[in-house]
Amino acid sequence: QVVFIMTGKIYSASTTAPVNIATLKYWGKRDTKLNLPTNSSISVTLSQDDLRTLTTASAAEFFESDKLWLNGKEESVEGQRLVACLSELRSLRKALEDTNPELPPLSKYHLHIVSENDFPTAAGLASSAAGFAAFVRAIANLYDLHQSPEDLSRIARQGSGSACRSLFGGYVAWEMGQEADGSDSRAVQIATQEAWPDMKATILVISASKKETSSTVGMQTTVNTSTLFKYRAEVVVPQRFKEMSQAIVNKDFETFGRLTMIDSNQFHAVCLDSSPPVFYMNDTSRLVIGLIEKVNKIHDRVVAAYTFDAGPNAVLYYLEKDEPIVLGLLKAAVPEVDGWDKKSYTASIAPAVPEGVDTRTFEALREGVSKIILTGVGSGPQGTEETLIDSNGLPK
Ligand code: DP6
Repeated sequence: QVVFIMTGKIYSASTTAPVNIATLKYWGKRDTKLNLPTNSSISVTLSQDDLRTLTTASAAEFFESDKLWLNGKEESVEGQRLVACLSELRSLRKALEDTNPELPPLSKYHLHIVSENDFPTAAGLASSAAGFAAFVRAIANLYDLHQSPEDLSRIARQGSGSACRSLFGGYVAWEMGQEADGSDSRAVQIATQEAWPDMKATILVISASKKETSSTVGMQTTVNTSTLFKYRAEVVVPQRFKEMSQAIVNKDFETFGRLTMIDSNQFHAVCLDSSPPVFYMNDTSRLVIGLIEKVNKIHDRVVAAYTFDAGPNAVLYYLEKDEPIVLGLLKAAVPEVDGWDKKSYTASIAPAVPEGVDTRTFEALREGVSKIILTGVGSGPQGTEETLIDSNGLPK
């Protein structure tokens, strides 16, 4: 998109990017500057119909400095991670301009970047992953870069590790790599969302009473102090990585779900094994674990799998065919919570409590769960005509 105004031309490009939730967790860096992980990880990209970041990147000769607005608020562009992403993208553009002098010299222009999440950032959802993926993709589009999503994922990784996985839709692996310069630490797609489309996800937004430890700080506390962590990174994850990748390719939900739960639990175990210990789950999170374990036991198979990131929110994965069981139970447990109305088809799902589930926990769940987000597996970043900047190059 090019807009002409009195002061000059504004070049711009917009993209959306998705949230991803890891099923094999990234936890620990071997290089904190380049965001190189101590283990490979796997995630599912969630549908942008329900959660997405929209970002517009623009460049113009008359812009006086780089500027960034997130959710309506101007933010600093001095952060080391942002600077790392920006300078890589600029030098790729510069290289392109060097081979073709006809191209507008965008690498020399300042950028105005405007980004908005359609979900509450404060809810503790993986907003930095979607944010950095959108940031990198939008600028790459503006600069007309021909680098592959794998290549761009190496740049997004430097913004926030988990962001590299949001460059793809479907089922995504972040291969840790071996090189000291990070050249082989990138995301790759294991399977498209079309290959296994009936994967559903529900997020139970659980309010935290106090501010949690950031992932960046928490994971380095673990790396530096946990003795269990070394075994996880060196022995457990490499084996799980193979098994989970294979389970995704085979659409084997039983294996995928079982590994997802034990890996979430092990991630929180190494947090507890850190000094000082890091706690992310709360009593409500543990109630959700108890409920899902119980349902799986009653059905004698993995109906749903839970996973928790660096916060108390629960993410449940299950197959579409089991929606009546999973959503029926949640309807019985948290019927009034905000979010059911977003998906009209849930009106026909009857509340159902399987025999053996203790309904006494429902009251506590109602107190702890503030919102439900019903979603599924989705696509990677999408270019869009929608724009967040006005004709002066400022946020609309
Ligand atoms: C628990 O990607 O937010 O969500 O690289 O320091 O920005 P930085 O950390 P971040 O950590 C995510 C940790 C996690 C697990 C995961 O997404 O794999």
